[in-house]
Amino acid sequence: MHKYNDKINAMFENPVNVGSLDENDPNVGVGFVGSPACGDVLKIFIKVDDEDRIVDVKFKTFGCGSAIASSAVLTQKVMGLTLDEAKKITNKEIADELALPPIKTHCSVLAEEAILDAIYDLLKKRKVCKVDQTG
Ligand code: FES
Repeated sequence: MHKYNDKINAMFENPVNVGSLDENDPNVGVGFVGSPACGDVLKIFIKVDDEDRIVDVKFKTFGCGSAIASSAVLTQKVMGLTLDEAKKITNKEIADELALPPIKTHCSVLAEEAILDAIYDLLKKRKVCKVDQTG
């Protein structure tokens, strides 16, 4: 049986950035994804400042321990990044940092997809806001 490394255990026992942000805030984007591999879901919230830098990030998951640890590591990595920088984070970076076993790779994919979905949601919101302002 795979022995999880200390970082997974620590993040699972005491994950950082669990929670949610106000979805109605125009500076908050929400990503919501499910894993086809296992059916687990992850919701991630990002809040940006006027320069599109991430100033707050929270997550909630009905997922396994590796999904919780992957999400927590992801939130730590994206804090303070611009959206363009955050887009570049890959599930491999997260999986490597946690030394996830191959069977748990999809848990880190869930985290990568959730942040991309949150960024997309925010950009969609921005577009709508611009239309509202000019209309
Ligand atoms: Fe489903 Fe890990 S087993 S996200």
